[in-house]
Amino acid sequence: MSASNLTARQSVPALRARKGGEPIVCLTAYTAPVARLLDPHVDLLLVGDSLGMVVYGLDSTLPVTLDMMIAHGAAVVRASERACVVVDLPFGSYQESKEAAFRASARVMAETGAQAVKLEGGLEMAETVAFLTARGIPVMGHVGLTPQSVNTLGGYKAVGRDAEAAERIAVDARAIAEAGAFTLVIEGTMEPLARRITEEVAIPTIGIGGSPACDGQVLVTDDMLGLFGAFRPKFVKRYANLGETVGEAAAAYAAEVRSRAFPGPEHCFGVKKALD
Ligand code: KIV
Repeated sequence: MSASNLTARQSVPALRARKGGEPIVCLTAYTAPVARLLDPHVDLLLVGDSLGMVVYGLDSTLPVTLDMMIAHGAAVVRASERACVVVDLPFGSYQESKEAAFRASARVMAETGAQAVKLEGGLEMAETVAFLTARGIPVMGHVGLTPQSVNTLGGYKAVGRDAEAAERIAVDARAIAEAGAFTLVIEGTMEPLARRITEEVAIPTIGIGGSPACDGQVLVTDDMLGLFGAFRPKFVKRYANLGETVGEAAAAYAAEVRSRAFPGPEHCFGVKKALD
């Protein structure tokens, strides 16, 4: 294998082939510095529209625009070399028609260099998924708790609690998989449902509040680093507490500026050191 093959990005077919194999590792990334840090460790970098809430302080993902997704997607692609980069299609850019979905996806692919797009929805989006995949645009599906439908769902709570709701989500998952998606995010469902869908569909499932049985897992990076405190869903495990670290660093800096301890001579130009 040549050096360039060793550093080549994870491809869509390679990830699709991971069904039932080594779990797929996915984290969100919205910026170049974070993408650079995560890239050596993950298979997939998801430029999620959660950036609306995490980066822009919005109440939901609904106001996120295609231009925002493209700017952040391009930054993440530029700063990574190994991971497959998937960019979310934002609300309103794809639901109207399969043609609108193609136009939005084509802009994402051409202007960011990402390998795939992600869209939310089930049976009603299957025709769109087939249309995009037949035209060279790999699609990651997203079923269960779909944040762009927060107003229809009545909030961000786990879904598929009763048998009828669970059956609808299972039908959605099969429809998206059969339409040609290469992976499927299952968010915020009862664990047995995510496990069942993983058994039923032929493509890798990526859980977030899903099940350990899923073929991969995704978390919002700022959640798992303890940087985003607005709310903390049950499915988030904190692997670090960077929020506290940032607060402590800011407090130390503020104290040193106020006491004139910072900047010291070593941080200034043209100042002779005491021992010189
Ligand atoms: O927008 C996002 O970050 C997502 C993940 C939570 C799956 O869709």
